[in-house]
Amino acid sequence: MILAQRRLCSLGTREKFLKRICSSKLLGFSTSAKMALKFKNASRIKGLDSNVWIEFTKLAADPSVVNLGQGLPDISPPTYVKEELSKVALTDNLNQYTRGFGHPSLVKALSSLYEKFYQNKINPDKEILVTVGAYGSLFNAIQGLIDPGDEVIIMVPFYDCYEPMVRMAGATPVFIPLRSRHTDGTKWSSSDWTLDPQELASKFNSKTKAIILNTPHNPIGKVYSEEELRLIADLCIKHDTLCISDEVYEWLVYTGNKHVKIATFPGMWDRTVTIGSAGKTYSVTGWKLGWSIGPNHLIKHLQTVQQNTVYTCATPLQEALAQAFWIDIKRMGDPECYFNSLPKELEAKRDRMVDLLESVGLRPIVPDGGYFIIANVSSLDADLSDMKSDDPYDYKFVKWMTKNKKLSAIPVSAFCNSETKAQFEKFVRFCFIKKDSTLDAAEEIIKAWSRQKS
Ligand SMILES: Cc1ncc(COP(=O)(O)O)c(C=O)c1O
Repeated sequence: MILAQRRLCSLGTREKFLKRICSSKLLGFSTSAKMALKFKNASRIKGLDSNVWIEFTKLAADPSVVNLGQGLPDISPPTYVKEELSKVALTDNLNQYTRGFGHPSLVKALSSLYEKFYQNKINPDKEILVTVGAYGSLFNAIQGLIDPGDEVIIMVPFYDCYEPMVRMAGATPVFIPLRSRHTDGTKWSSSDWTLDPQELASKFNSKTKAIILNTPHNPIGKVYSEEELRLIADLCIKHDTLCISDEVYEWLVYTGNKHVKIATFPGMWDRTVTIGSAGKTYSVTGWKLGWSIGPNHLIKHLQTVQQNTVYTCATPLQEALAQAFWIDIKRMGDPECYFNSLPKELEAKRDRMVDLLESVGLRPIVPDGGYFIIANVSSLDADLSDMKSDDPYDYKFVKWMTKNKKLSAIPVSAFCNSETKAQFEKFVRFCFIKKDSTLDAAEEIIKAWSRQKS
């Protein structure tokens, strides 16, 4: 009977399922109606069921598609990183559970690395938590620190999981858009996108528990300047607000830009959780290891969430990551250090993508950091009449492009709240942490498409 119910469950929407199970001859009506009620989702996840990655990763899975969608490097991760992992796998005790809040050698390596930036000691046991990716850090921070009724300020566009995570905690997201100050005749840069200081100030009130910052920014590639961070820091201090600072692309900043940690501003360490990612640091997104760094009075609450959810992260990955960090910590000033060599490699790929998009008449927003580039694609005049009509323009465009041109990207309105989707729905995001042959294939598609049009 359970098997029959499961099969029904997979047949369609929840509504269809409820209808079917209520009319099912397998169960008496009153029992089945009662059961159907029990199958209802918990209210905390109501309305959170759609997810851009699930929808678009499935589309790009076709091997004939050139995938510039999800932030998925197809360049080789550094050899020493992979070698460390294969060495670790041969050591018996490193294949067993480790300390829940972070494998001892990894938290030590992280404290040694980040002390250089904070210019302060970081207690590896109390001020660092290793998590399942940066996602895990975001979840632990939001669940551990945010209450129902709180407000959390989110800058639009935003990495898509911020809004549902805040809603799952029962809090209210308060959105503020980045606005473009771009003037015609110049290249459009991610630094043209700024917050209006007065508008930002107006979002803070006595209910504001936290602001979520993302620098370098996904999807625009903005690297917040010291001046912009100072404005945010001053407001956080004035309104006694926490800052959750997502810095997963911290090493990926391009010529003329510098990544600055908001936690290093006076008065900010005590109220900031800074988040990093091994996936982004070492181009090993499949490792899904991340970390949160901050004062013990905040990190201990994230630890409480972790010990009652995943409890611990994979030991071999943590040990291998620690060893990789030690290699790079010892050569931080050298060009071979991955923290220096990867941004150099990516800057050339960024420039190539800018040239390619411009060559077909698009005006991309040149990113100062990260590995994404966004462009308004409406001038390509794609015929989207066959696409599902209730999708935003960019969803239809990417689906059409994936199907007809065999090139995938990500719609930028996925990074917006419902009120701002229209503002960004002509933009799509391309990922450029790709080997040259992948970028060659993308170039061929885009140029052939442009030739066809002219
Ligand atoms: C801004 C931002 N934060 C967090 C994450 C999640 O990182 P992880 O794969 O380490 O969970 C991503 C991944 O793309 C991201 O772009």
